[in-house]
Amino acid sequence: MRIFLLTLGLVACGGGDQSTASNAAGSPAAPATPSTPAPRPTPAPAAETVGPDGPSSIPVPSIAEIPSDAGAIAEGEKVFAAKGCGGCHQFGSKLVGPDLNGLFARRTVPWVGRIILAPDLMVKQDPQAKKLLAELMVPMPDQNVSDEELPKLLAYIKSKGG
Ligand code: HEC
Repeated sequence: MRIFLLTLGLVACGGGDQSTASNAAGSPAAPATPSTPAPRPTPAPAAETVGPDGPSSIPVPSIAEIPSDAGAIAEGEKVFAAKGCGGCHQFGSKLVGPDLNGLFARRTVPWVGRIILAPDLMVKQDPQAKKLLAELMVPMPDQNVSDEELPKLLAYIKSKGG
């Protein structure tokens, strides 16, 4: 009987030791918890939401106001001619490209800047440009318009009724 109690005592004691050991084992295991993969931040934006200004990933200089002075308009006219824009665009009728009349009534200034500077990217990434390409079946070529030429071109286009 005494042996039995002793055994019980040992078992109880052993059990106690075991639970202590498992706690001790649990503690070192705790620091390992942070290594479990933390919830990942949202994956890289697959589809950028494209607003009326076009994809923000396509750089465009910010033009607060389209210049309206005669000097800018005259320079813009030269750029328009030198870049061959008139070969595809007119004011008042559709040619190879859309009629530029009323352009700024249907498009924002940054959107127009983007299609002039990066037409190839716009027809791939911008819904409105994609639609134009689908309608006209001709992609507008990149005319290598510089950031400096852009506001002058816009000044000329606007002065003509764009
Ligand atoms: C080879 C013909 C061609 C030339 C040259 C060209 N474009 Fe275009 N343009 C197009 C076409 C076609 C579109 C419609 C988008 C598309 O299909 O790629 C377009 C679209 C545009 C639009 C948008 C019109 C709208 O209604 O939203 C603007 C603005 C524009 N072009 C300006 C210019 C300017 C400025 C130049 C000169 C630097 C130029 N384009 C040169 C063919 C041309």
